[in-house]
Amino acid sequence: MRVVALSRLSQTNLLEWYDEHKRDLPWRNTNDPWAILLSEILLQQTQVSRGIVYWQRMIETFPTIESMANSSIDTVLKAWEGAGYYSRARRLHALSQLVMLPSSEGGFDGSLPSSYIALLSLPGIGPYTAAAVSSIAFGQPFACVDGNIKRVMARQQRMMEPSTKDLQSWADEYLVQLRPGDWNQALMELGATVCTPQIPQCHHCPIQSSCEGKDTPTAYPKAKKITVKKVMFWTCVEFNRQGNPIISQRKPDGLFGGLWGPQLHEGEAPDMNSEQTFIGTVEHKLSHRSMTVHVYMATRLSSQVGRHPGDVAMSVLDQKIIELVRQSGHEQTLLSEMDDMDHI
Ligand code: ADE
Repeated sequence: MRVVALSRLSQTNLLEWYDEHKRDLPWRNTNDPWAILLSEILLQQTQVSRGIVYWQRMIETFPTIESMANSSIDTVLKAWEGAGYYSRARRLHALSQLVMLPSSEGGFDGSLPSSYIALLSLPGIGPYTAAAVSSIAFGQPFACVDGNIKRVMARQQRMMEPSTKDLQSWADEYLVQLRPGDWNQALMELGATVCTPQIPQCHHCPIQSSCEGKDTPTAYPKAKKITVKKVMFWTCVEFNRQGNPIISQRKPDGLFGGLWGPQLHEGEAPDMNSEQTFIGTVEHKLSHRSMTVHVYMATRLSSQVGRHPGDVAMSVLDQKIIELVRQSGHEQTLLSEMDDMDHI
């Protein structure tokens, strides 16, 4: 139990700082709830610099919620290609179709709801996104907590391991009711640009006077140990006579669900025969997994239908695999051998 009263942070100082120093991010120049939702979904697991690129691509491809609802999941995944965490794209597609339904069928007649509770009921929307969208797009008084806000709060209060409940109570207590969207974003902005994880710029912080952790800021909050599991796979890529790889669409659930790629097999590759050539190894890191893929290529051309990688959505890992094989030149050699045979 803490006995000392905590000094209150200055809401005015933080909002003034935000008004003067906020980054000019594209979703901050719109009040379209769909565009704002898109930014919040993307930024959950993507850095702002990459988020800008994907947000622009997504909003150009799907300028309205209706345009996404009328598109196939394959089109949505293609636009999301490279952004990672593809379940976000699948849920967003489901959300758009639900919102477009008439209210008599459980939908929202084509308009994203403004209430926190209704937003929370939609696919892919948790407490953070519901609070962020309801406050930023609709001016509703809901406080959100993301990783940046957690760090600011932990340092302000010198807390090693604040619980989710502690964090939400703190955020609720300080929420500026008249500017909830700006307030939430001001805290995020402070965490992203000043109260940073490694080298915080405390001398530039507009709320340094109330910060209890400013002498040793990097001690708060206690760093979480991330366990990264190492997993090994092998794959044998086949090409057809048109030079297209034989790839298939992965099942909707699971890793890279709904995306296309060569079949990946977990574990060490079995002994190969003369029908497979070892090409090389691809390393790929996900947040909790470090993947090593041993890549082989079939030395015979396949008669199956292949796909041009540009025509389907592929994960970055699958793109790296196909690129490695192409760069090895083996597939070109095989194709030209076939051409020579045709001329005999
Ligand atoms: N991260 C999540 N939401 C954000 C926003 N609206 N602005 C900047 N960074 C964010």
